[in-house]
Amino acid sequence: MAGINSANRGRLKDNPLSGTVALVTGGGRGIGRAIAQRLATLGASVAICGRDQKALEDSAASLEKQGSRSFFHVTDVTKAAEVAELVAKTEAALGPITILVNNAGIGLFGPAHERTETDWDRVLDTNLKSVFLVARAVTPSMIQRGTGDIINISSLAGRNTFAGGGIYCASKWGLMGLTGCMAEDLREHGIRVSVICPGSVATEFSGREQKNAAKALQPEDVAHAVEAIVTQKPGSFLSEIQLRPLRKA
Ligand SMILES: NC(=O)c1ccc[n+]([C@@H]2O[C@H](COP(=O)([O-])OP(=O)(O)OC[C@H]3O[C@@H](n4cnc5c(N)ncnc54)[C@H](OP(=O)(O)O)[C@@H]3O)[C@@H](O)[C@H]2O)c1
Repeated sequence: MAGINSANRGRLKDNPLSGTVALVTGGGRGIGRAIAQRLATLGASVAICGRDQKALEDSAASLEKQGSRSFFHVTDVTKAAEVAELVAKTEAALGPITILVNNAGIGLFGPAHERTETDWDRVLDTNLKSVFLVARAVTPSMIQRGTGDIINISSLAGRNTFAGGGIYCASKWGLMGLTGCMAEDLREHGIRVSVICPGSVATEFSGREQKNAAKALQPEDVAHAVEAIVTQKPGSFLSEIQLRPLRKA
């Protein structure tokens, strides 16, 4: 199922992303929703995807309220055919994608030796393989146009290890490697590939309780880091941002 809404009032001089098209995976809630909202505020047309149609409808309605052209498509980003359809339909609805935010992800914690093969596949497919699939679908047109921003949402768990983090850390460490190599492959084509590594963010992620939600990062903090990346002057790029709350929870 797909939906589009119109009313592009965002072509004001102070909208630095006016004329751009962003795709945010997992834009229906949490960090992805905050990123989608921020990009819309900056003037981008924004497409979002996820598996929960209701959440997507709600998020897209909120984008529309900001005057953004928006598009949503129910998509499981672990499935190549669904990803290909997502990208084709987004480009048909809004135009060529200039900003891709690979945000969709799941958390699953506990000693790796106690988890199942299905657990491994679910986490690795969602957090790592999906980035390969979506970037692979989006880059040909970016290469053709010689420009683009790809931002992967990793985690401090992609730089650190901790008890019970085995499968999640494996997915995010893998994502760090993929991001670095993609950045090298694509920089000569004018495409900037960046990674953001947030610490704990106050969302519904993995259904876990925050130790102290008031001291955790907020989704808007991650959106702010995305803003910094996409508004960086041409000719340079913020390759990695590590994001921590000021006060420890
Ligand atoms: N929250 C934290 O503490 C934290 C810290 C560091 C990094 N991160 C990373 O930030 C990203 C967003 O996390 P969050 O905190 O916003 O979590 P969240 O609230 O659980 O949101 C996760 C999003 O990913 C989407 N998603 C999951 N599996 C998907 C699939 N197979 N296909 C399409 N969409 C899928 C979900 O949509 P549907 O359920 O509708 O599919 C949802 O929109 C993740 O990559 C996570 O690893 C989170």
